[in-house]
Amino acid sequence: MREEWANSLSEDLHLDLRGPRLRDGLMEALREAIRTGRLAPGAKLPSSRTLGADLGIARNTVAQAYAELVAEGWLTARQGSATRVAPRTETVAAPTPPKPRHRRRIDHDLRPGQPDLSAFPRADWLKAARRALTDAPDEAFGYGGPFGRPELREAVAGYLARTRGVRAHPDQIMICTGASHGLMTIAQVLKQRGVAEIAVESYGLPVHRQHLVKAGLDTPRLPVDADGAVVGHLDDLPDAGAVLLTPSHQFPTGVALHPDRRAAVVDWARRTGGLVLEDDYDGEFRYDRSPVGAVQGLDPEHVVYLGTTSKALAPGLRLGWLVLPPRIARLAAEAKGERDLHLGVVDQLTMAAFIASGSYDRHIRAMRLTYRRRRDQLVAALAEHAPHTRVTGLSAGLQVLVDVPAGEEDAVVQGSAWQGSAWQGLAVYGIGAFRHPDAPADRDALVIGFSTPSASAWSGALAALCRVLP
Ligand SMILES: Cc1ncc(COP(=O)(O)O)c(C=O)c1O
Repeated sequence: MREEWANSLSEDLHLDLRGPRLRDGLMEALREAIRTGRLAPGAKLPSSRTLGADLGIARNTVAQAYAELVAEGWLTARQGSATRVAPRTETVAAPTPPKPRHRRRIDHDLRPGQPDLSAFPRADWLKAARRALTDAPDEAFGYGGPFGRPELREAVAGYLARTRGVRAHPDQIMICTGASHGLMTIAQVLKQRGVAEIAVESYGLPVHRQHLVKAGLDTPRLPVDADGAVVGHLDDLPDAGAVLLTPSHQFPTGVALHPDRRAAVVDWARRTGGLVLEDDYDGEFRYDRSPVGAVQGLDPEHVVYLGTTSKALAPGLRLGWLVLPPRIARLAAEAKGERDLHLGVVDQLTMAAFIASGSYDRHIRAMRLTYRRRRDQLVAALAEHAPHTRVTGLSAGLQVLVDVPAGEEDAVVQGSAWQGSAWQGLAVYGIGAFRHPDAPADRDALVIGFSTPSASAWSGALAALCRVLP
C-alpha cells in the first residue's frame, strides 16, 4: 500500500494507492474519493503532470487513469479545459457520527456544587502566574515529590492557621487535586492499615462515599439532625477506623456540628485511635454567624483536614490540600506517590503567589458579599412567592435547603424541568440525591445551589424557582 498526499488541489487530497498496479490503484483511490464526497461533483482535478509529480508516478499513468474514469462516467474532460469530477456522480455520504441523544438545554441551573464560574479572578490569577514564573527557581521545573511545592505548602499552612484555626507545619501539608483526590489517598492508607469501615453522614456527596467503597471500605452511616452528625453513634460501630464529616457546614443540610459533638468526636478518635476526616469544602463562606474554626485545631494528631479551592475559586483548577497527622504523613505520601507524583508545578506556584499577594482573601471576601446578597434575595423571593416554604441552612455556604411538602420532592424536581408539556428548563436536585442508601427518607426538600448561576443568570434562575414551588 502506498499513501500519498496530492497537494496540487487547493486542498490536500489524501490518496491511498493500493495494489501492485499503480494505474488501477490510482483509479480506485479517485473513485473512493468521489464516492465519499471528498471530491465533490464539479471539482477540478490537477493536471496529469502535476498529480504524477505529487504522487511520484509517471504522468502517463495518471493520464490513463483519468481517461478510463472519464469512460466510466466518474470524470469529465473537455478539450482545452481541466478534468473534473462528473457533475451528477452519486456520492455516498461518509458515515455520519451518531446524533447525540436529544437533550434539552438547561436554562436555569440551581444544582449545588459550583461557585459562580464567571467570577473567576482571571486578571489576578494571571498576575500571580507571572510573579510565580518570574520567581521560580530552575529546580521547580523538575520532578517534584508527592507532597507538592514547598512554596504552596507554606502559603497554605499560613492561610489555614489564619482563617480556619488549623494547626499545621508545612511538612504536614500535602497538595492534591482537590478533596476527592485527598480522600482517595487517605482511604487507601486506611485500608492498608487494616481499617474495614469509615462512618459517613447520612447525607453527603455520593461520589465521596463511592471513593471509600471503591477502596474496599464499608460506609456505615451516622444520622444527621439539627446539630449535625450524631457522632455518639460511633460507639455502636466498633469496626469504624475513621469518620468522614463536614463539620463547619454539613453537606447538604447546611447545619454546623454542635460544639459538644465536635469535642465528642475528637474524644472518640483519641479513645479508639480512629481518625476524623474533616471535609472543609466551603468553610470560608459564612454570613451571619461567628466563624466556626476547623475541628483539626482541637487535635491535629487525630484529624485529617481536607481543603479545596473548588468552592472558593473554581473546581476546574483541581487544587486542594490535606493536612495530615504526622504519624500518617509518610504513608499518605507513599500512597499518593504510587499513583501520581505531583500536580503541575505552574499552578502550584501560581496558587502560592495568589495567596501570598492577598488576592485569595480578597476574592473570597468579594464572593462572600455576592453570595450573601443572593442568599438574601432568595429568602425574600421565597417569602413573597412561596410564603409557606421553610428555608434552612442559611447561615453559611453556597446551598440552602428548601422544604417541599412530604412526598412531593420528586414531582417538584421533575416539574422544574417540565410543567405539562411546557419546558421550564430549571435544574435542581432533591435531597434524596444525597441520601445514604441505608438512610430512611425522612425529609423532602430541594438543595438549592445559589452560587451556580452567573451574575447575569441569577435573577432568571430565582424567578424560575419561584414558579415551580408548590
Ligand atoms: C461536600 C463536598 N466536599 C468537597 C467538595 C470538593 O471536592 P473537590 O475538591 O474534589 O472538587 C465538594 C464539591 O462539590 C463537596 O460538595
